[in-house]
Amino acid sequence: MNNPWETVSLSDYEQHMSSDDVMQLQTLNDMMRTQLVSFPADTAMILGIAGGNGLEHISTDKYRKVYGVDVNEGYLDEVKKRYAALDGCLECICADLTDDKVSLPHAGLLIADLLIEYIGYDCFERVISVTEPEYISCGVQIDTGSGFVSESPLTHSFDCLGSIHRSISPSVLTGRLECIGYDLISSQEYLLPNGKKLIRTDHRRTGGTI
Ligand SMILES: C[S@@+](CC[C@H](N)C(=O)[O-])C[C@H]1O[C@@H](n2cnc3c(N)ncnc32)[C@H](O)[C@@H]1O
Repeated sequence: MNNPWETVSLSDYEQHMSSDDVMQLQTLNDMMRTQLVSFPADTAMILGIAGGNGLEHISTDKYRKVYGVDVNEGYLDEVKKRYAALDGCLECICADLTDDKVSLPHAGLLIADLLIEYIGYDCFERVISVTEPEYISCGVQIDTGSGFVSESPLTHSFDCLGSIHRSISPSVLTGRLECIGYDLISSQEYLLPNGKKLIRTDHRRTGGTI
């Protein structure tokens, strides 16, 4: 079965996420800026890159390679068009991260914003074991009682995602990453206008086996 994300139009997604009541695209852009400048890594992998929100913060002086991964090939085609100036640094990889045979290159920094909600803890750990990053930075949404998709005129475009979405707890995520050798080094909350919030947690490999 195809991943339901392959049926979501990028313009619906971006229009919904950037609407005044949702404001997530703007908030995720700010989070990505922090993530891309904060760690001593010269390679990065962004999981669930969608339309490439925040890629304008990539410095080609800092990064020799940034991989953008997504299951939706149409999104990646748009990313390549939007960020043609990053050609040679940015490499798009179309892959379903829930595939247990997924093959990905190593990256020093692994970024996953609003992605773990769609692949789950086990699968995220498998991706970590394949890419072996030194640093991991994750953004997760803390849902309020109103459901995981915020209200906007486009809310129903995302009904298909209900079958794969799960809530992620930053403390459970942090505990699971500690168990595979990654310690929490910082975290930040980002408040959204509709009462929801995003939490970014940053982790550094300190030992253990992946
Ligand atoms: C909520 S969006 C992420 C938003 C993005 N990080 C941002 O800052 O705007 C989730 C993204 O993850 C991708 N995705 C979901 N499940 C996936 C999977 N199993 N494998 C690869 N990509 C996936 C979707 O296609 C979508 O682009």
